[in-house]
Amino acid sequence: MSLQHGVASADRGTPPAVPGALPLLGHVVPLLRRPLEFMDELRRHGPVVRLGLGRVPVYVVTDAQLTYSMLTAESGSFHKGGRLIEALSRFAGNGLATVPDGDRHRRQRRLMQPMFSRSFIAGRAGVMIETARSVVGGWAPGEPRRTDDDMQELTLSVFLSALLGAQPPTEVRREFQRVLPDVMAGTIRATILPRALGAIPTPTQRRYQASLRDLRTAIGALIDAHGARSNDGGPADPDRAGLLDLLLDAADPESGQRMSRTQLEDEVITFVTTNGQASTASILWALYEVGRDPDVERKVHAELDAVCGQRPLRAEDLKSLTYLRRIIHETMRLYGPAWLLTRKVSAPGVLGDFVLPAGADVVFSPYVIHRDPVVYPDPARFDPGRWSPERAASIPRTAFLPFGAGTRQCIGDNFAWDEMTIILAETFRQWRMTPTGDRAPKPVPRVTIHPDRLVMTPEPVRAA
Ligand code: HEM
Repeated sequence: MSLQHGVASADRGTPPAVPGALPLLGHVVPLLRRPLEFMDELRRHGPVVRLGLGRVPVYVVTDAQLTYSMLTAESGSFHKGGRLIEALSRFAGNGLATVPDGDRHRRQRRLMQPMFSRSFIAGRAGVMIETARSVVGGWAPGEPRRTDDDMQELTLSVFLSALLGAQPPTEVRREFQRVLPDVMAGTIRATILPRALGAIPTPTQRRYQASLRDLRTAIGALIDAHGARSNDGGPADPDRAGLLDLLLDAADPESGQRMSRTQLEDEVITFVTTNGQASTASILWALYEVGRDPDVERKVHAELDAVCGQRPLRAEDLKSLTYLRRIIHETMRLYGPAWLLTRKVSAPGVLGDFVLPAGADVVFSPYVIHRDPVVYPDPARFDPGRWSPERAASIPRTAFLPFGAGTRQCIGDNFAWDEMTIILAETFRQWRMTPTGDRAPKPVPRVTIHPDRLVMTPEPVRAA
């Protein structure tokens, strides 16, 4: 009999059911209609609660400490899996984010870890800065822009530059931009909808299927084009080789085997999809929040002036942009960016006072954890000051999980920090960005939480 939190497992109970389930549908309606509010309200029903997706029960962990323990100490009973992972596997196959826990995951992670080391990423910062500067520098002053489209394009370009070691061809970027929104929206539908409903061949569903096929074709073409370039002599400067060059060369330390073509495609798809969405969403919300708070805006411009003045941004400046990094922290707290992640119970799983049956799906949500008013007073308020060293000291590690935790924690966290810092720094170095239009952007939960539409007007900083 195991003991956790002082309760013998025989005395543990089943998590309480959330009221309001409809026959056959369970809680699908509020999950589709107002997912973020619904998820945030679950906290008041308990630290672990039971929902119905159709007739299938799903358990939601709303408590930070229990979530952390599920991802770390208890991860032997809570395996990577569940509805979101099944939906992601449709396009990411056995990529690092979707491959089951165990030896294969450990091997793949070890193979890829060097590409995400601080020093490797620092070596790619130069090309990321160049790409960001040239895109942002092309904007016309005083003209309102669809900043959501701009940033989707920019994060993709910056990521592809790091992947390829060079700025990406425009047509490649456009094709990803075309298919990714449908792929991500279809993934979250497949996660929430009962299976029978998700299988109905509606026009939206057919478009999703076509986008899945197009995504794989585009990844295949990207790898072929890059392989052809490498065979023609490879990147001139090995220090600027892209992630893809390392993936093509990577060999298992034990067997010496290279990745199969399918594995390579799965990994590249995983990077393109996991990276672009979460980073773009965070950058957009950061731009919006800074743009509507003159005090925060003044501080970020002052910091950039103090750190690099008139000279171009350099990779070594990133660590000095402490106020900008607090803005990014606060954006990832307030807007998730992941709002629904899943696990599968592999053996009867103990979480606090509850036992979850083997085979059940479990949901956890950084979005919900980051809005707990006990840890974050006035949780809906954007306040970068929460992350000053004095105030951040009272925030437990378990209460800030934008990148997850444990063996399946995001491998790209350092990369994401640099990428977001570079894009925001280059934008704020050149522009003051003002939200424009008659309404605030609405959060739309896809795999990450995006603003439905963000229009902003850039005004040159020096003219201000
Ligand atoms: C703001 C940006 C990002 C956020 C918020 C984010 C968030 C996350 C989270 C929460 C997980 C864990 C999911 C789980 O436990 O089920 C994860 C895993 C992962 N992320 Fe990220 N991510 C970001 C950027 C990136 C980037 C830039 C890359 C790669 C270029 C990346 C690649 C991955 C991969 C491969 C995994 C799976 C790791 C494994 O299972 O071993 N992510 N990410």
